[in-house]
Amino acid sequence: MSQLRCIGCGETALADRFRCEHCRDLLEIIYPGWEGRGPGGLDAASLKQLWLDRRFSFDSADQSGVWRFREILPEISKQQVITIREGNTPVYSLPLCAKSAGMAQLFAKHQGMNPTGSFKDTGMTVAASFARQAGYRWVACASTGNTSASMAAYAARGGLHSLVLIPDGKISWSKLSQSLDYGTITCQLKTDFDGCVRVLNEVVERMPVYLLNSVNPYRVEGQKTAAIELLEQLGWEPPDHIIVPGGNLANSSAIGKALREMKPLGFISRLPKISVIQAEGANPLVRTIRENGGEKLIPVQADTMATAIRIGNPASWKKALRVIRETEGAVEQVSEVEIAMAKAEIGAEGIGCEPASAVTLAGLKKLVKQGFVKPNEMVVLVLTGHALKDADFTLKFHRGDLFAGTSHEQESKVLRPMQRSPLVLEPSVDAVVELLRSAEN
Ligand code: F0G
Repeated sequence: MSQLRCIGCGETALADRFRCEHCRDLLEIIYPGWEGRGPGGLDAASLKQLWLDRRFSFDSADQSGVWRFREILPEISKQQVITIREGNTPVYSLPLCAKSAGMAQLFAKHQGMNPTGSFKDTGMTVAASFARQAGYRWVACASTGNTSASMAAYAARGGLHSLVLIPDGKISWSKLSQSLDYGTITCQLKTDFDGCVRVLNEVVERMPVYLLNSVNPYRVEGQKTAAIELLEQLGWEPPDHIIVPGGNLANSSAIGKALREMKPLGFISRLPKISVIQAEGANPLVRTIRENGGEKLIPVQADTMATAIRIGNPASWKKALRVIRETEGAVEQVSEVEIAMAKAEIGAEGIGCEPASAVTLAGLKKLVKQGFVKPNEMVVLVLTGHALKDADFTLKFHRGDLFAGTSHEQESKVLRPMQRSPLVLEPSVDAVVELLRSAEN
């Protein structure tokens, strides 16, 4: 059976809590039964085979790229599982991006290929299922857009009512439209993400509403499966580096937790280095590590066009810090123009992602220049959101107005060769043929 334990003082907690009653630190799920017996009473070799066999099953839990790995998740009865076949996301090679970063090769695990278009689905399936099993009728989250889209979808599929608090402005319309479409009550608060979190934390104290923000330890468990699926896709040979965007810092924590659990169980023999990349304008973890060695979080007033990670007071910073330290990873920050360039480069591979995901490539370029990542090492970027999550950004980029009137205007000239604005022509065959001829040259 799984248990909740405080990451600070180590005390155990009740199954539906989020913070330790003694020291207010975050909670995490542990599995005391694994010691000696292994998850589900199986060893690593048997689990690898079992998980592989499930790929050929028509059972809905087996078809989920999360529940296929249920031995390493908290136990939830099958009737309560809410799944929309999340996970099962591809690993792509990115040869052009590799070249641009100075690497021999480069891979991306695209979590934006989940059902609602972001990595949030892998955690949401577990936490929403737990909410239903625990008898909650309402779930809620504060969000920069992806968590809310995901929660709204899983609540709808599971017959739960849901409430979303998002910042008024600085959130992408596609994400907002998703939560409206999936039938959640969507409130735009006149504040930023951090303000939405503050309000929601008090709402859930007063009302019987289950919190589905990433402090929710069940979400972290589901998000672990991305790392496990990745290892399976790589034949259980860990990469040298995994690079993750950092916002509220739950995803890096989850990927790290998976790897830290997999090693003693004998799934892998070494840990990849996990590095976290933030936008310069939303860099609390970078500042905390550089300015006080990780002693105490330095919150910032966040601002970045990568609105998904526009977060100044990340809840899971201690968990992420532990992962970076244990895996000997790095933290880095990247500018708005660097993000835009990296996003265009990932798009030009025929893959694409949303701006927050592109910080990984922008960060990798810096880590290669610093010598932290060697050109022949095996690197996997975690792309967290689909390209269509923020079409506005992409259109503005290609039309050349993304940075118009901002302090980045001058610096953004380097983006010109990547910009492809739509061409408006007369409906004439000659005009199109002429255009093709000049494109050939
Ligand atoms: N990438 C995308 C596309 C995101 O939506 C988020 C977070 C992150 C990266 C950062 O992940 O918070 O685990 O460090 N989005 C949250 C939301 C905050 O509300 O959708 P993190």
